[in-house]
Amino acid sequence: MPSVDPVALRDAAGELALEAGALLRDGFGRNHAPERKSRIDLVTEYDRRSERMLVEGIARRFPTHAVLAEESGGHAPPAGGPALVRWLIDPLDGTTNFAHNYPFFGVSIAAEVAETVVAGAVYDPVREELFAAAHGQGSTLNGRPIRVSEIARLEDALLVTGFPYDVREHPERILPLFKAFLVRAQGVRRDGSAALNLCYLAMGRFDGFWEDDLAPWDVAAGSLIVREAGGSVTGYDGGAFRIDARQILASNGPLHGPMMAVIARSASGEE
Ligand code: IPD
Ligand code: CA
Ligand code: CA
Repeated sequence: MPSVDPVALRDAAGELALEAGALLRDGFGRNHAPERKSRIDLVTEYDRRSERMLVEGIARRFPTHAVLAEESGGHAPPAGGPALVRWLIDPLDGTTNFAHNYPFFGVSIAAEVAETVVAGAVYDPVREELFAAAHGQGSTLNGRPIRVSEIARLEDALLVTGFPYDVREHPERILPLFKAFLVRAQGVRRDGSAALNLCYLAMGRFDGFWEDDLAPWDVAAGSLIVREAGGSVTGYDGGAFRIDARQILASNGPLHGPMMAVIARSASGEE
């Protein structure tokens, strides 16, 4: 069986993210007429155009690889046969921001082998920041190594989270934990791109992140970028993280225990 080179996959992910990001930058600020996937979940023409560019770019470079993309679902390898590598694509993470002309969104691309993410890239085309990682090689921002922060106390920490699109139907699933962190951390942000949130954690702008109900394409690249930058990524209970687990707790490491304790208290009904 042919082996894969995580560095080559990371570099390809970075190039593809830059191309799709340029398309998004071009479309940013125009008057979009988004469609609704559900009550508050939007999709624009640019989500679809970016995704088409990425799926075609992967098929051209890697005809033996499979793809799972947010808007169009699973794609078998164009060359046929079983795929050794599966790419996970979020063509526009932060669609609500994009549709409202709020400049915080990105492209997220990851490559997975045997259910392990081995390479990934996330690109913010507004700030021209390209985050990337390959398994065992560390994480970078525009080619320079990055590391998580060293903050160890929640009261000194800047945390970030997000809310799922069915928050109106189940606010009680989200709000107690949000409140529990809000009254303990130095600050809590919600800025609408889980992929960029993870990258900001990886480079020390944020110290911890939690979110419910994320999809594999939201977290695949970002979770590797956090780990390779020295951070921790698990489920809410500290158990092994899976990209399809829907819940994620990510931190700089020292804050992981304190954040798990807040989650456990909140789950048991304490404030
Ligand atoms: C969303 C963003 C947001 C998060 C949502 C995601 P989308 O992705 O990452 O920050 O809170 O849960 O679905 O829909 O903009 O690709
Ligand atoms: Ca997303
Ligand atoms: Ca998206």
